[in-house]
Amino acid sequence: MTRFSRRSAYAADRNALSLALGARRARGERVIDLTTSNPTTAGLHYDDHAIAAALANVAAMTYEPAALGLPQTRELIARYTQVDASRIVITASTSEAYAFLFKALCDPGDHVLIPAPSYPLFDQLAGIEGVTLAPYRLAYDGAWHIDTPSIAKATSDRTRAIVAVSPNNPTGNVLTRGELAAMQATKLPIISDEVFAEYTFSSAADSVFCAAREAGESLVFSLGGLSKLAGLPQMKLGWIALGGPDALVAEAIDRLEWIADAFLSVAAPVQHALPALLASGAVTRASISSRLARNLAALRATLSGSPATVLSVEAGWYAMVRMPNTRTEEAWAMALLELGVYVHPGHFFDMESEPYLVLSLLTPEADWQQGARVIGELSRT
Ligand SMILES: Cc1ncc(COP(=O)(O)O)c(C=O)c1O
Repeated sequence: MTRFSRRSAYAADRNALSLALGARRARGERVIDLTTSNPTTAGLHYDDHAIAAALANVAAMTYEPAALGLPQTRELIARYTQVDASRIVITASTSEAYAFLFKALCDPGDHVLIPAPSYPLFDQLAGIEGVTLAPYRLAYDGAWHIDTPSIAKATSDRTRAIVAVSPNNPTGNVLTRGELAAMQATKLPIISDEVFAEYTFSSAADSVFCAAREAGESLVFSLGGLSKLAGLPQMKLGWIALGGPDALVAEAIDRLEWIADAFLSVAAPVQHALPALLASGAVTRASISSRLARNLAALRATLSGSPATVLSVEAGWYAMVRMPNTRTEEAWAMALLELGVYVHPGHFFDMESEPYLVLSLLTPEADWQQGARVIGELSRT
């Protein structure tokens, strides 16, 4: 007899690379971590005083349960997203938004389409909800784009929604109008994860930065949150902005309200602090943007002329490097770790070929430059 559910059974993260990383750290040896994606420990600029002052708000002493978020919170996010406040749902995070949407749209065993390569947390988020993932393809031909015929190929009569991650983690491509149209042609609800939308290097003229505003006849959920917008994952505030025909949106809001009412998970202090957090977020966003741009330029400069190639990237917090085909991806990552540099191999993100490395552009600059030099030197061996 098993006491636990199948959906809570997980494969512990015991791959050879994470074991080697743990062993290295246990020996007290230095690791240059090129995967760090926690903005609060990356030496970025925050307006600490404004943030701390905003949290000390006596208005938060009164509990006003509001499943969709406090009216003034929805209003602020409406102003930011340019989607009407009646179509905004406040959540504790983007991850929670996915969980609510999977509950609202799917029964256990139903399918959701996700891009591949993409964000590894989907397996966990979907598994916990009893949802099965079906990947559609992203392809690289000097730029990343969606292989739109693969959307229809991945669709079945159990498919209930399609996820777009725009900008995608880790490929950095932004959804185009043509790609959105291909998704709309499926008539499926579209979940568009736009958490990195403020961090763009270069993008096409027909890029879509808020799919909910371009929903047409489709039901579209655009996701965002303070975690990336203001570099404040610990504040636990995200949102869903809905787009589409009134009747469909109204039913979706009703169902999301009913689900959110079971948890009431968004804390009052962060909602009362939101005006100040959004305002001070501009300081952090500027600090993040300049870190990303400088690190990307440094990586390109360091690797130019080496056998390692930096893939083109439109937006987001990540860079991808194609290594020479002389070792496996795992072997490159292990060899780098032996030199004290930790990177993620592409297969963590379901890349269909190898060898690729995924690096977080948020890495503090001194570590980044040292790590990039080691990658360049190793690529020549
Ligand atoms: C594509 C993507 N969506 C969502 C998140 C998580 O956001 P949140 O902190 O709001 O759950 C991440 C975190 O890295 C991400 O990469």
